[in-house]
Amino acid sequence: MRLTIRDVRTMKNKGKPIVMLTAYDATSARIAEMCDVPMILVGDTLGMVVQGHDSTIPVTLEHMIYHSAIVVRVTQKPLIVGDLPFMTYSISPEQALENAGRLMQEGGVSCVKLEGGVHMASTVKRIVESGIPVMGHIGLTPQSVNQFGGFRVQGKQLESARQLIRDAQAIQDAGAFSIVLELVPSRLAKLITNILDIPTIGIGAGVHCDGQVQVFHDILALFDDFVPRHTKRYLNVGDMMRTAITEYRVEVENREFPTTANSFTMEDDVIATLQKEFAPNASD
Ligand code: KIV
Repeated sequence: MRLTIRDVRTMKNKGKPIVMLTAYDATSARIAEMCDVPMILVGDTLGMVVQGHDSTIPVTLEHMIYHSAIVVRVTQKPLIVGDLPFMTYSISPEQALENAGRLMQEGGVSCVKLEGGVHMASTVKRIVESGIPVMGHIGLTPQSVNQFGGFRVQGKQLESARQLIRDAQAIQDAGAFSIVLELVPSRLAKLITNILDIPTIGIGAGVHCDGQVQVFHDILALFDDFVPRHTKRYLNVGDMMRTAITEYRVEVENREFPTTANSFTMEDDVIATLQKEFAPNASD
């Protein structure tokens, strides 16, 4: 039985920190589930960590459906959140509803996430009223990185902080079941968390959020283009992979791999007959 949005609300009410991790394929999703991660975000960060782009902008709805379906297929327990990518929900509430519906129906996710505050409230309302749970996302919203002029902390000044509080309230009032706060000063994130009834999930928003989300590739040091300050590399899997793959290459080049333990035998008389027939002059 999968975790539900009701369970997520209960976790906030009981003060149990909510853990969310991104995953994009069968391997990462299976590992997250084995580690009892209760929520998986199929994030449009896949544009950077899987597809090799320098932003999330080129990700399409088809990409999100493809990766979401894989993550849903191989997991049983986590709540799967699917990200609506750039330009798939900002034209009109009707466009958003249609695409949220596709991500749920074809990708199999239990809920969708979209970026934006007050200006997206009517869109969130339209989707939620149609039975699709929505997670909001405010603060630094990566799909608008060009408008922000880079990955900067948001809401440091009085007016921009007020605006973030209004954004959070508008998304809650529109019916979202939770909200991501990205790159927000921790004291502001704490204030928003206290004001809202719905859970806040922070990334670069300090320890007082109701939960935290991180990118799979960041916490395992699999993504080297840059290391965001808000992340922690729990293990340098990237280094371990480079060591292992170099060792593999060297062993093949030195004919040290495969050994007999990795090889398969056949009857002597069969190979002797073949040898006589096809390569009488070659040695075994
Ligand atoms: O796409 C993503 O992975 C995200 C998280 C960084 C919150 O939106």
